[in-house]
Amino acid sequence: MPRLRKEEGTHELIDFYFATGNEHKLEEAKAALSPHKINVIKLDGAEKLEIQHTNLEEIARAALSLIVTKTGDKLVFVEDSGLFVHELNGFPGPYSSFVFETIGTEGILKLMKDAKNRKAEFRSSVSLGTKGMILGTFSSVTEGMLTAEAKGENGFGFDPIFVPMWTNKTFGQMQLKEKTVYSHRAKALLKTALWYLDASKNKTLQENAIHVTSQSQAKERNVAARKASKKSSC
Ligand code: IMP
Repeated sequence: MPRLRKEEGTHELIDFYFATGNEHKLEEAKAALSPHKINVIKLDGAEKLEIQHTNLEEIARAALSLIVTKTGDKLVFVEDSGLFVHELNGFPGPYSSFVFETIGTEGILKLMKDAKNRKAEFRSSVSLGTKGMILGTFSSVTEGMLTAEAKGENGFGFDPIFVPMWTNKTFGQMQLKEKTVYSHRAKALLKTALWYLDASKNKTLQENAIHVTSQSQAKERNVAARKASKKSSC
């Protein structure tokens, strides 16, 4: 199952296929995992399908379950993320992508105009699988503050209005290497990679695997997850 490649005589590289349409996320994943000898490759033709759910891990698992039945023995992962603003009770959270496309950073800054509490956090969940199985899902958080105005041209999404803890720069003012030090995504990916390396060494990769043998089973699983989410939010 693991794809190990010998390169330059000494390095063993493992290929992880990333199902994403977001080139920024792809570059961030490459930067986060290449020091750990993991080669991130964009999975062609698999745009991420997103279900509505309040839990990022469930969204990532649902998206992955629709992919792992079609990708053979490739190691594939999906990442879901969002910005959670404390003053707004966690909004936009799982709706971050839609909120960014509609009201954007300016819209969030307007909602936060008179807010005293500017604490916010980025969350990321990564789900990894292969051969019709979801092997594991790992999450991370980066806490920080929202700025009063957008700063910096780098990155994507809400990067220009978020200053991670222990710095005074927005993600938008950081180069990729610096963002990787603080990023929720880099941390979730690192957890995933370290778990994978450990579990593959100990032959425990499938210990908690969720089996998704067909597309219809994946869809059924997602409908059930959505129903459970609606019940718990009632
Ligand atoms: P999704 O994970 O594709 O659902 O997208 C989540 C949305 O959250 C993105 O479209 C961005 O607007 C926002 N977001 C997630 N991670 C980041 C980040 O690292 N920087 C800036 N915005 C982010």
